[in-house]
Amino acid sequence: MFNYTEEELKKYLVANGTERSCYYFPQEPNAIYKLSLHSKAKQTKREIKYFQYLQKKNIPFTHLPRLLEVIETKKYTGFKQEIILGENGLPARHLWQLLSDEKSDKEKLRLYLYDLFKYLYKYNIQFCDLNPDNMVLDEKVGKIFLIDGLGCTDFFPYPVYFKSLGRKKIIRKCAYFMQFHPLLVNLFNNNKNPLP
Ligand SMILES: Nc1ncnc2c1ncn2[C@@H]1O[C@H](COP(=O)(O)OP(=O)(O)O)[C@@H](O)[C@H]1O
Ligand SMILES: [Mg+2]
Repeated sequence: MFNYTEEELKKYLVANGTERSCYYFPQEPNAIYKLSLHSKAKQTKREIKYFQYLQKKNIPFTHLPRLLEVIETKKYTGFKQEIILGENGLPARHLWQLLSDEKSDKEKLRLYLYDLFKYLYKYNIQFCDLNPDNMVLDEKVGKIFLIDGLGCTDFFPYPVYFKSLGRKKIIRKCAYFMQFHPLLVNLFNNNKNPLP
């Protein structure tokens, strides 16, 4: 049951986007709350439905955080989600931070990204926002998690239900990401194949 007050929400805000805000309460160290005002809950609702669909299909959540609870209050629609933590118990580092850090092992990051692409492809996981902002690295297991931008925004979400269509879309989007994201240009050189 969600019963945090507005004051607590203000105190434990960790990220504030245009459509939703994220909260981390120290008394629940393994969870992050993502809440939208009802008037701005379109993306959040789509994501909830998609997570529930994946759970029903028994997709392994090896590269996605688990949906822990759906939240519906007078003011908010949202959900409680598993938080991906780094080695020191702090929230895991974003891929954009790691890619911009001279000290990080780029070869490892490249392999972790291939592993993520393979996972998305294998289970036909649809996403609309593939972006290093929405990816964090769990160093303990050596996996990149996609923490945001899940689901399909098409009016008729055929790629979700028709695997061959979905997979084509995944390949196309991953290849575009590899080729054109400014932080990735040197990582993949001219390789355009997400599934080598
Ligand atoms: N499951 C998670 N594990 C770790 N950090 C997370 C998780 N979900 C969100 N975050 C942190 O909160 C930020 C905002 O979350 P996100 O779901 O991307 O919201 P927005 O819709 O505002 O982009 C992320 O960039 C990340 O730093
Ligand atoms: Mg995001």
